[in-house]
Amino acid sequence: MAKIIQGKQIARDLCEKVANEASTFRREHDLAPGLAVVLVGDNPASEVYVRQKVIECDKAGIHSEKYRLPHVTLEAELLGLIARLNRDPKVHGILVQLPLPDHIDPSKVLDAIAPDKDVDGFHPVNVGRLSTGSDGLTPCTPLGCMMLIDTVIDELRGKHAVVIGKSNIVGKPVALLLLERECTVTVTHIATLGLPDIVRRADIVVVAAGAPRLVRGDWIKPGAVVIDVGITRKDGPGGKALLVGDCAANEMDHAGAVTPVPGGVGPMTIACLLSNTLKAARRSVHG
Ligand code: GUN
Repeated sequence: MAKIIQGKQIARDLCEKVANEASTFRREHDLAPGLAVVLVGDNPASEVYVRQKVIECDKAGIHSEKYRLPHVTLEAELLGLIARLNRDPKVHGILVQLPLPDHIDPSKVLDAIAPDKDVDGFHPVNVGRLSTGSDGLTPCTPLGCMMLIDTVIDELRGKHAVVIGKSNIVGKPVALLLLERECTVTVTHIATLGLPDIVRRADIVVVAAGAPRLVRGDWIKPGAVVIDVGITRKDGPGGKALLVGDCAANEMDHAGAVTPVPGGVGPMTIACLLSNTLKAARRSVHG
């Protein structure tokens, strides 16, 4: 049987570590690490994510401010809020929840966030730092994926990692992180021809395609580690919402280790957000 990577517990441990370190930071600087979360419009999934982010900040002793703006908010108004948060010394991290309404250009908004407050790691400066292997703020979900992989593989060097998905939020940054650790990385996506045969050669599979049950059991080499970033909401029995990953979870017995959905990568994203906020706060006082 494949080992189940207990993301929920690993995330809880990381949140506890951040909470301890945040408490030391508060004592030393008479200031709590602070995160501003901005939500525009009323995407129900985003509302759930933002609520969870604020709850976890409170638990970890991180000051949080939530800005809930109506769908009709103008791009210029949002840019004005970001400019204000960039100058606010109580705010060390700024997160604008995606997706934004269609009339707002997300790249304009992300570019406006001060790179040292960009706890999502989406600003071009942080993307550049990640691609050159210099220290910056790294996107939370990819960081969480790496932490989970590190719980089951001692040495990543030389391992063949196959990433399925080419998004700026997960696919591209996780590929860069794996490359930095000297994996041989193949980046694929939903249009890749011969995808099953490519995945069959992988020691590590990270799938973030948003395609439920895309990865089948016979794509997975025995002993491979499978990190499933997919979360698709489906109607389950009795009208209950069911979360489905990008892997056919019931076909993964011969894998070495797999992340469950839910309770795998998801909780790590928020834990890494707290960790990035603390990192940004430390850098703001230590340079
Ligand atoms: N929407 C989905 N994932 C993310 C994320 O990691 N950060 C932000 N800001 N929005 C998201």
